[in-house]
Amino acid sequence: MATALCPGSFDPVTNGHLDIIERTARLFDDVIVAVIRNPQKTQSLFDLGERQEMLREVTAHLGNVRIDFFTGLLVDYAKEHGAHAIVKGLRAVSDFDYELQMAQMNQRLSGIDTFFVSTSPQYSFLSSSLVREVARFGGDVSSMVPRTVAERLAKMFTPSAPKES
Ligand code: PNS
Repeated sequence: MATALCPGSFDPVTNGHLDIIERTARLFDDVIVAVIRNPQKTQSLFDLGERQEMLREVTAHLGNVRIDFFTGLLVDYAKEHGAHAIVKGLRAVSDFDYELQMAQMNQRLSGIDTFFVSTSPQYSFLSSSLVREVARFGGDVSSMVPRTVAERLAKMFTPSAPKES
């Protein structure tokens, strides 16, 4: 029984993330998608509960995928939950330096290896931060995120109708 761990901020989950999760679910018996509680990079747009809820909705068709969260070191969570591998998507060379460094650090700390899955080309430009920015200024992200995410973003950024006087 091989368990893979797909960690991330998922703020919000994109079609690129979902592609990696689906492909990981075909390769491993059990997949844990673990959402970091406090992403350091940004003030998060969606809170932890919302990020997990969206992930549950969009992975509902995958019977061997479960959603959880973690705080602290990823490798501590990985060891506690018996993960055999960490799986990450790689979009471009620009991802590689940092991802390699993290993979080597995680390997040194825990002995757990990281496996990189190449992002499908149609998603290689996609990131949660760009989706947030485009959605914030009213751009159409409906082809880049699952429908539930697009709806939540639209709700969040659609100006409310002016009140009648
Ligand atoms: O989706 P992201 O923001 O690229 O995910 C990055 C994440 C959460 C996987 C990474 O920052 C992480 O593992 N953080 C946990 C803290 C940790 O273990 N740091 C040491 C990494 S070598």
